[in-house]
Amino acid sequence: MTIEVPTRGGLTALRRAAAECQGCGLYRDATQTVFGAGPADARMVLVGEQPGDREDLAGEPFVGPAGMLLDRALGDAGIDRDEVYVTNAVKHFKFTLPARGKRRIHQKPSQGEVSACRPWLLAELDRVRPELVVCLGATAASALLGPDFRVSQRRGEIVAAQGIPAMATVHPSAVLRAPDREAAYRGLVADLTVAARHQA
Ligand code: URA
Repeated sequence: MTIEVPTRGGLTALRRAAAECQGCGLYRDATQTVFGAGPADARMVLVGEQPGDREDLAGEPFVGPAGMLLDRALGDAGIDRDEVYVTNAVKHFKFTLPARGKRRIHQKPSQGEVSACRPWLLAELDRVRPELVVCLGATAASALLGPDFRVSQRRGEIVAAQGIPAMATVHPSAVLRAPDREAAYRGLVADLTVAARHQA
């Protein structure tokens, strides 16, 4: 199915249209489209992978455990979450439901799902026109910086995405899963501090 991304109107028009998106199959099982959130004139855009269980239910990005860690890291880097626009590369929750389990298990979106959702992400960047885009993890980096971009090798570097200065760092969920969580957290804060300085 073709995706009808409005070429006119602001974020509100985009959000309304994205709520009806059937550009890939993920809309069937997800509760709702989780569109980006934050000020339309934000100087920084953060891009995650896809909504998780909590975000799917709340309809807001990064409100679950990864979001709480992200909020703390942003604060430690001197960035006010209320001043950034936060979104995801894929806007529907992808999950499996184990036969007897109750908890929905996150599944990584496919390249096709990332590509299908990309026009929404590009439209958000077009409307917000930030001074810096921060890709949180490999899926966001792949969507905006190309499939060959390696976050592990180039994290914290200022590059360009769609003509906008950009940077990639690790995903907050990767910090939560890291064997040395403190070191991983410090790494995330260090990268976000580079992002904050880029704007100062
Ligand atoms: N992980 C993401 O990538 N995005 C969210 O919104 C929540 C968790």
